[in-house]
Amino acid sequence: MQTDSSFTFVLFGGTGDLSMRKILPALYEAHRAGMLAASGKIVAVARHEEDRDGYLQWVNEHVKAHVAKNGVDENAWASFIARIEYVKLDLGNAEDFVKLRDAMQDLPSSRVFYLATGPSLFVPICRALASVGLNEHARIVLEKPLGYDLRSSNAINDAVGEIFAEEQIYRIDHYLGKEPVQNLLALRFGNALFEPLWRREWVESIQITIAEELGVEARGDFYDNTGALRDMVQNHLLQLLSIVAMEPPHSMDSDSVRDEKLRVLRALKPIDPREISRLAVRGQYHSGVIRGTSVPAYATEPGVKTDSATETFVALKVEIENWRWAGVPFFLRTGKRLADRVAEIVVNFRAVPHSALGASALRAGANRLVIRLQPNETIRLYCLAKKPGEGMNLSSVHLDLAFDQFFKEGQMEAYQRLLLDVINGRLALFVRRDEQEAAWKWVEPILNEWAASGKPKPYAAGTWGPAAASAMLAQHGTCWLEEEN
Ligand code: BG6
Repeated sequence: MQTDSSFTFVLFGGTGDLSMRKILPALYEAHRAGMLAASGKIVAVARHEEDRDGYLQWVNEHVKAHVAKNGVDENAWASFIARIEYVKLDLGNAEDFVKLRDAMQDLPSSRVFYLATGPSLFVPICRALASVGLNEHARIVLEKPLGYDLRSSNAINDAVGEIFAEEQIYRIDHYLGKEPVQNLLALRFGNALFEPLWRREWVESIQITIAEELGVEARGDFYDNTGALRDMVQNHLLQLLSIVAMEPPHSMDSDSVRDEKLRVLRALKPIDPREISRLAVRGQYHSGVIRGTSVPAYATEPGVKTDSATETFVALKVEIENWRWAGVPFFLRTGKRLADRVAEIVVNFRAVPHSALGASALRAGANRLVIRLQPNETIRLYCLAKKPGEGMNLSSVHLDLAFDQFFKEGQMEAYQRLLLDVINGRLALFVRRDEQEAAWKWVEPILNEWAASGKPKPYAAGTWGPAAASAMLAQHGTCWLEEEN
């Protein structure tokens, strides 16, 4: 659906990795699908290319490869390229921002500034934009990580907040743009069926896993100063948790949804530093084999310190202190170089209170909902059924909804949805400052404790992380989903 919202989309970090892999391909897709206003313009900003011709050559060489799995539509590509302007800009040079303002003079006045740069540049860029009056009637998009801890994230938010009002600030968490995460909202709030069961009386435990096969790739330097807790837990995992656990919002408008997520984040049971070893497991991958290929240890990856104590795996037990969830453990887990790439939410319902059908009715593997976010988005409901034949022997069976079979059209990429939302001024899928603060506050005791003592436990690449992550669930009489099979 094409929108009437014309726009000027200014991309700082125009020759960076994120622009190449995600942002420009997503804008191309939106353009190809006719979802961008015809008059909308993209202004790429970078230091490296001299002029527009040089930049377009870079786009042709680097971005095309990341565009459209089904091949590039050359006509659409040509008209996409025609939308792109280029401004060579040195961030330290105030004159260059005047040049940028002048270049935007005749372009549509609804402006988006996308800062696909490191967080240390957010404040200088915002100040320079304000100095030439470009902060007015504009939206600003900030990539994660926004800061390193609560203090540094507050410092950025305070400084950006002096220049842009909160409604102008779009903090990206790309997990919120994923189709399956949207579907989670549809499942929970579009169906009356699950709501009565979605609470402590019926739910025994919930697992949320984001597992990756990839290692740190070319980001060793960044990752070694970040770690899995900051890279994945503080944002993606806590956002997923808040969507799974939130109360039904009044509507889907941005603040109704974000208010409810915030209530969950604020209700997370604070972590007592003395309890951390019981509630949190950290790991770091050693060499191993993934799908038949040997992969090196984290500590030997380029950019990583050989004696690094950075965690590449985290498992946590989390509790939510409210009436709906009191006492229900939420087990969160994420890691690099694990056995599989999978993101899923497992809701384990309680067993029947009394089995008239014999002990097999109490077996594990039933009364469970598995929401697979990626790959292959599926919702699977496990139940018990009678095996054919004599006697009442029960077996676990499942009802499946495979989205790609049901809906033939492909999914929209997270970045495409989020960029369209920014262009159209929809804030619901972006993180509000108070949510971000609540998430930092909750993870901080773990960050501090881990920085002060101990080391991550080793795990071989291609496994599911350190054994301690399994032991943590065993204490609660449960196990991770893959351990059941
Ligand atoms: C990013 C992290 O936010 O999310 C990366 O910085 C991680 O380390 C990525 O690989 C995972 O995203 P996805 O969409 O591939 O699951």
